Amino acid sequence: YNLWLQYQKIESPTLLPEYQKQAGHIFIPGKNATSDVIEKELRTALEAMLEIAPQFTTTPKQETTLFIGTREQLPAFTLKAINIPWEKLGTEGFSIQSINQNSQKALIITGNSDVALLYGTFEFLKLLQTQQDISTVDLTSIPKTNIRVLNHWDNPDRTVERGYAGASIWDWHRLPGHVKPQYVDYARANASIGINGTVLTNVNANAQVLTPYFLKKVATLADTFRPYGIKVYLTARFSAPIEIGGLDTADPLHPEVQKWWTEKVNEIYEYVPDFGGFLVKADSEGQPGPQNYDRTQAEGANMLAKALQPHEGIVMWRAFVYSNETPDDRAKQAYNEFKPLDGKFEDNVLVQVKNGPIDFQPREPFHPLFGAMPETPLMMEFQITQEYLGQGTHLVFLGSLFEEVLDTDTYAKGPGSTVAKVVEGSLDQHALSGMAGVSNIGTDRNWTGHLFGQANWYAFGRLAWNPDESAADIAKEWLKMTFSNDEKFIRKGKSIMLQSHEAAVNYMTPLGLHHIMGWSHHYGPGPWVTDKHRDDWTSTYYHQASEDGIGFDRTASGSNALSQYAPEVQQQYENLETCPEKYLLWFHHLPWNYEMKSGHSLWDEIALHYQKGVHQTEQMITDWKSIKTHVDDQRYQQVLDFLQIQHHEAKWWRDACLLYFQQFSQMPLPEGVTQPE
Ligand code: GCU
Repeated sequence: YNLWLQYQKIESPTLLPEYQKQAGHIFIPGKNATSDVIEKELRTALEAMLEIAPQFTTTPKQETTLFIGTREQLPAFTLKAINIPWEKLGTEGFSIQSINQNSQKALIITGNSDVALLYGTFEFLKLLQTQQDISTVDLTSIPKTNIRVLNHWDNPDRTVERGYAGASIWDWHRLPGHVKPQYVDYARANASIGINGTVLTNVNANAQVLTPYFLKKVATLADTFRPYGIKVYLTARFSAPIEIGGLDTADPLHPEVQKWWTEKVNEIYEYVPDFGGFLVKADSEGQPGPQNYDRTQAEGANMLAKALQPHEGIVMWRAFVYSNETPDDRAKQAYNEFKPLDGKFEDNVLVQVKNGPIDFQPREPFHPLFGAMPETPLMMEFQITQEYLGQGTHLVFLGSLFEEVLDTDTYAKGPGSTVAKVVEGSLDQHALSGMAGVSNIGTDRNWTGHLFGQANWYAFGRLAWNPDESAADIAKEWLKMTFSNDEKFIRKGKSIMLQSHEAAVNYMTPLGLHHIMGWSHHYGPGPWVTDKHRDDWTSTYYHQASEDGIGFDRTASGSNALSQYAPEVQQQYENLETCPEKYLLWFHHLPWNYEMKSGHSLWDEIALHYQKGVHQTEQMITDWKSIKTHVDDQRYQQVLDFLQIQHHEAKWWRDACLLYFQQFSQMPLPEGVTQPE
């Protein structure tokens, strides 16, 4: 339940006295809800880790060793001794510096706002949790994006779309009367990794969430989260003016509709004075949108944006727009819809783009909109919940997936134009930037169902703050804070986490295969699915396997989705010599006997990848067993049980996919690949 905020006792005989000395006397001059939160967190953490009851003071004392304050609050002698880039810190950045004062060390945690101090405090606690030397600490951390939000796909009836960790944690029925302590722990966890917003409701939720009945409840949640620097946002169903407003149209250019939204927004701000704004799914998978009135996505978004402008709210307008009535490759549709609208959105609109052009597959090339809309801030949308990645039972560390996408070069402005730079807004100098993660949180006692799901929540927050962070460092930090600082434990734990994504890709969708999951639930294999209502919802559409080969031709001879990327990317992916093999069947349709770089035929290579994935899950079990002594029995056993399920299901994936594809390849399985039983 305590996530990465375990605050385990520091056992090191050298570090413990050092930390005790440094954290014994704390100066916190602020007297507000956030400074109370800081004090409370320090009490809890330091008592547990250092077994001390720190003394707090609002005026500096001779014995004070830890100073937590803004520039205005810090005593003059500390300000003289530190060197802080105040301007650059903005409102959320912070610095931690160690100084010498009266022959003793003093530590200063500072920033330009109370929330920055809270972030700095969590960073300080992390230094202790990960057992760092704090005697010469000098660090500054500034978020590279300004909107870092969880997207809860939580419905008002407490079901969670694509949720695998129980019911929604928002207990609407008991709100606003009862504030569950879990809401506070949710806010603590998020603040500890720099998440500063939460969209409470599902992108497919109905308009009910905008009625006063709900707004009262939303206000209570907002009040609870405010001291932690977390704003609330809601999803806005485009047809709300009809459904709850009694109008007969939701046309964004209709004055009555505009008036309705303006009044609705004003009403929301009466309940929540710092309301963040709206997240909108429109014209997609049955959701209404501006297309219903022959209006563009920009016209739809701008109407809401204008209503929010007086309150400094924003609109996160999703680019996940596609239609089965369009005969074109689904991977191309969002680009076709949005690219022509670049520059047409109001300043307080961000277009929220999924990391890949189809739908949160185990691996996708980056979405072609990244780099293609320089005039518009693009938000990254990652999925933390593992819809297509083994859901609540498979251990898949998504830090690796997120990092791979963020590090990819779009070449939009020549080499080095990474997706991370687009998202940070630094490539095109946008004032607004952000990252959204579809939450994996539910009422399960450990929040995320699979214990290692916690690591994905953690990794998302860390990468939203700094998209250039390394997945390996994040994994290490998380392991230390969640379990143990023991070196062997960290080595093995990291090895499990860092190979887990590749393992899942291997046993599910190797070499660029995609969307071959069971229909609708998306859990196990289903490459054979052919009979459901829509062409693009069948697995055969995506893998295109037949006697002549396998793969989706997205080059000029096929759907030409490749033409949506910058020329450098196009050339790299269209040329079989340079196309990374991990994307091969995403972009190319190739014969079964096509010779791979390894010298194997394509068929053999596919089979060997499936087999490798199975081996990797076996290795994960061996590694986990080898670190049993570092984990308590309950957590150890849960992870072990799930790893065994994962291993079993990796075999299921391998056998099902190979047997299915073999009817087309008509080739025997290569040596080393287990024959299906
Ligand atoms: C996927 C997912 C849906 C979800 C949709 C979205 O298609 O399966 O459940 O609503 O993405 O992102 O809107």
